[in-house]
Amino acid sequence: MSNIGSYEERLKDFDWGIAKEVLGWENGELLNIGHICTDRICARGQAEKIALIWEGFGDKKRTYTFGDLRIYSNGFAKFLRDQGLKPGDRICIFMDKIPSLYFSFLGVLKMGGVAQPLFSAFGDESLEVRLESAGTAAILTTRKHVKKIRKILDKLPELKHVIVVEGDESKLKGEEVFFDVEAAPRVEEFDAYEVTPETPSVLHYTSGTTGQPKGAQHVHSSIWGQALTASWVLDLRDDDIYWCTADPGWVTGTSYGIIGPWSLGVTQCVLDSGFTSARWYQFIQDNRITVWYSAPTAIRSLMRDGVEPVNAHDLSSLRHLASVGEPLNAEAVIWSEEVFGLPFLDTFWQTETGAMMISNYPGMPIKPGSMGKPFPGIEAAVLDLKTHEPIEEPDRVGLIAFRPGWPAMFRAYRNKPDIYRSKFAGAPEGAEPDELRTNTDLWYVSGDRASIDADGYYWFVGRDDDVINTGGHLVGPFEIESALVEHEAIAEAAAIGKPDKVNMEVVKAFVSLKPGFEPSGDLELSIMNFIRKKLSPLAMPQEIEYMEKLPKTRSGKILRRYLRALEWGEDVGDLSTLEDD
Ligand code: PRX
Repeated sequence: MSNIGSYEERLKDFDWGIAKEVLGWENGELLNIGHICTDRICARGQAEKIALIWEGFGDKKRTYTFGDLRIYSNGFAKFLRDQGLKPGDRICIFMDKIPSLYFSFLGVLKMGGVAQPLFSAFGDESLEVRLESAGTAAILTTRKHVKKIRKILDKLPELKHVIVVEGDESKLKGEEVFFDVEAAPRVEEFDAYEVTPETPSVLHYTSGTTGQPKGAQHVHSSIWGQALTASWVLDLRDDDIYWCTADPGWVTGTSYGIIGPWSLGVTQCVLDSGFTSARWYQFIQDNRITVWYSAPTAIRSLMRDGVEPVNAHDLSSLRHLASVGEPLNAEAVIWSEEVFGLPFLDTFWQTETGAMMISNYPGMPIKPGSMGKPFPGIEAAVLDLKTHEPIEEPDRVGLIAFRPGWPAMFRAYRNKPDIYRSKFAGAPEGAEPDELRTNTDLWYVSGDRASIDADGYYWFVGRDDDVINTGGHLVGPFEIESALVEHEAIAEAAAIGKPDKVNMEVVKAFVSLKPGFEPSGDLELSIMNFIRKKLSPLAMPQEIEYMEKLPKTRSGKILRRYLRALEWGEDVGDLSTLEDD
């Protein structure tokens, strides 16, 4: 049983105001997330407490206190302001999980900017699409990754500042600026920007079925949801040593790898090196990690390597484990209970929801394979696939949906009000984002299918669209298809997810070739590399199937869903129902 009360107790008279109590928050205090995670922790006497334990490749290790976090985030905030950047400017953070990623994220928020973190393995095209959509004004990166920006710079007229935060200063080009916050003069004081609850904070891009990725816009008051769930579901306490394995290029890495835990003043660990079971277990052992938040693909990889590496390490510090991002299969829960003496507790949420929505609340009996129940304060349902009415009877599959109005909810898809509106069942035509997000007659429809059992537990079934979930990362088929047809040999392309034992899904491409090109091993490699470089290793097809022609609807749209059904051995059904939907 955790120290935060039982689920049933918490449901009674729940009010989000309790998040303020958990943070010891007084009305009138500055709400800025960058300030709360740094200055406020120091002001309550914890400046000397370790905030970040960082390890990189080899035996690189550094530790930083909350005092350091304050000074270095001040450093970035001041530097960015001195460059002429203004509150509201989108400032992209494009780097590996180095300490400056964390300092700059908080620094951007402190000066009122909108932090736009992007996964450092993104290739130039993935980057371009997201920077262009965001109208990004500045990008913070490293020597290792700046080359990708140079390639696209002339296509991004709004991108005025390229700032390199690590590496060799002498190798910069053009108007690139160098800024090493740890070498720069210490900035003892910085007046964090006075935000309102609705001031934009973080912009995360997420992939859909059609069209390019959409920018989910979050605001500073998201912190209420992130802090409360970090406290109640991750059960973080003052003496915890916490490890979130996610990269802040994705929402888990910001909501629970920065904001939630640091708002509570909890010590976090970051491992910026490749995955091996032995390395991960060593990291837990060396740092005496107590709370571990990870993803099913990682857990399945650990399972594959068996108990030997577990037994070779002292993991007795662990007291609480949680997972997110993909279905956590029952075997993984049972296995973790056997080998760690603790089950991984599944949590469900999305970039759009900003914070956990459904979870196995500590102390609640676990049904392995279930995502648990809605967090207190979250009204959830599964809706009938056609009528969008809540399903009352147990075990019938429908669409997971939430009543709008929770604090961490996304406030817009950047510049895409129609797509935002389309996510709300029952939305009045032409309704503005602000009306939608506060209208509790509507349902925000997540795009996932699940059923609820007679005890109120949610069971994930699958996505309601064609988005590919590979290792807990969403990849949009449209993005991959658009990139594939840019390859000189490809005439038409379709991308789907195919089943994979560890990653749940990997990308498979179906292509037809232009006249003069023949299938070959070399061509396959060339296509794979093309996508890896342009988009990312995640989007790279693991398999390419050549077809004379791709199957299409009468109006000429490629039948991606038909290809997917064939791949998964599912009933293809009546092809006419696949027409243009
Ligand atoms: O399909 C669901 C899956 O991941 C999607 C959200 O992905 P993203 O916006 O990238 O955010 C990931 C981390 C919050 C969901 O729509 N997903 C997330 N958690 C689970 C899950 N699928 C099954 N079980 C989960 N616990």
